[in-house]
Amino acid sequence: MDRFNLAVIGATGAVGKIFLSILEERNFPLNKLRVCASQKSLGKKITFGKKDLIVEPITDELLIDSDFVFISASSEVSLDIAPKAAKLGSIAIDDSSAFRMDETVPLVVPEVNSQDLAEHKGIISIPNCSTTPLTMVLHELGKLAKINRVIVDTFQSVSGAGAGAVVELDSQNHAMYDNSEIQTSIHPHRIAFNVIPQIDKFTKSGYTNEEMKMVNETKKILHQPDLKISATCVRVPVKIGHSEAIHIEFDQNIELDKAYSALANSPGITLLDDPKNNHYPMPINSEYKDDVMVGRLRKDVSLPNGLVLWLSCDNLRKGAALNAIQIAESMIEKRLIQKQRNK
Ligand SMILES: NC(=O)c1ccc[n+]([C@@H]2O[C@H](COP(=O)([O-])OP(=O)(O)OC[C@H]3O[C@@H](n4cnc5c(N)ncnc54)[C@H](OP(=O)(O)O)[C@@H]3O)[C@@H](O)[C@H]2O)c1
Repeated sequence: MDRFNLAVIGATGAVGKIFLSILEERNFPLNKLRVCASQKSLGKKITFGKKDLIVEPITDELLIDSDFVFISASSEVSLDIAPKAAKLGSIAIDDSSAFRMDETVPLVVPEVNSQDLAEHKGIISIPNCSTTPLTMVLHELGKLAKINRVIVDTFQSVSGAGAGAVVELDSQNHAMYDNSEIQTSIHPHRIAFNVIPQIDKFTKSGYTNEEMKMVNETKKILHQPDLKISATCVRVPVKIGHSEAIHIEFDQNIELDKAYSALANSPGITLLDDPKNNHYPMPINSEYKDDVMVGRLRKDVSLPNGLVLWLSCDNLRKGAALNAIQIAESMIEKRLIQKQRNK
């Protein structure tokens, strides 16, 4: 079996660290692994299995040496590095929003649209961490009947804003108990003991960028440009795990048992739906899990053809690092990596 060289850019970050631990857990056909981060981390040691990896600068030599370059740093870094990596013959799998809506770049959740990988030109984007679980549910339920409209409200953990936001929540929690001054730099308001109905900047329409990412990315991944979808994204004082309340209107009635069995048989989804015993998805039972946890499935009392459900998903795993690794695995399986190397 072929083995592959990987570079992880942003290896010291919230997603990068999880990426490395998932790589250890899975049987990824790894040959060589190299790690990069910002200037301040150069020379730092990162333990991977029994080895110490040294954080190195991003050079042309490193990009040429890598079959896959996973970029999980910032849009600025992605805009600079992804096209270079593709030009030098490696495949850039990009975590940022920089290329997601670029028509020449596949935006992929392997369980939903792995067929789009065949169109790649050296860069593949992964969706926003809230878009990924939403598309997985819509893809499965959309096989039962046409979806006319989706309303989604998110409850997003602070790790979605990076490792610094987790540290900020911790320090604000301590400050609340100590009655000391609260420092706020990442979110527009204190997040400890609060919820904030704003993630990213507001657009002219009144929606935030995060909300419009969910809208536009979902349409692209599902190949449904006319899908009616509206999102409200909210930051909550949870460390890991995004949750979503999803209201779906179909063009015909869907029996609940059909929806249950469609979701129960979906790859990457675990049903956790036992309300009598108070069992349903929450960040505390989706953290460190690969699957999207789905529950609270019910008929919408306000619509003849509506379903309502709730999900929780580890934003650092399926919302980011795991999805990226699964894309690489899918490309290896489909033999799409050779195409890039032989360019
Ligand atoms: N967090 C999530 O749930 C999530 C989900 C989906 C997508 N994403 C996307 O993933 C990316 C990373 O997010 P994160 O949450 O992991 O952020 P993070 O915790 O702030 O980590 C950022 C990483 O990027 C590195 N970095 C910063 N500037 C760099 C530069 N100029 N060159 C190379 N590396 C640089 C940092 O290195 P230092 O440690 O040296 O500063 C760190 O390793 C973002 O594009 C984000 O939008 C995040």
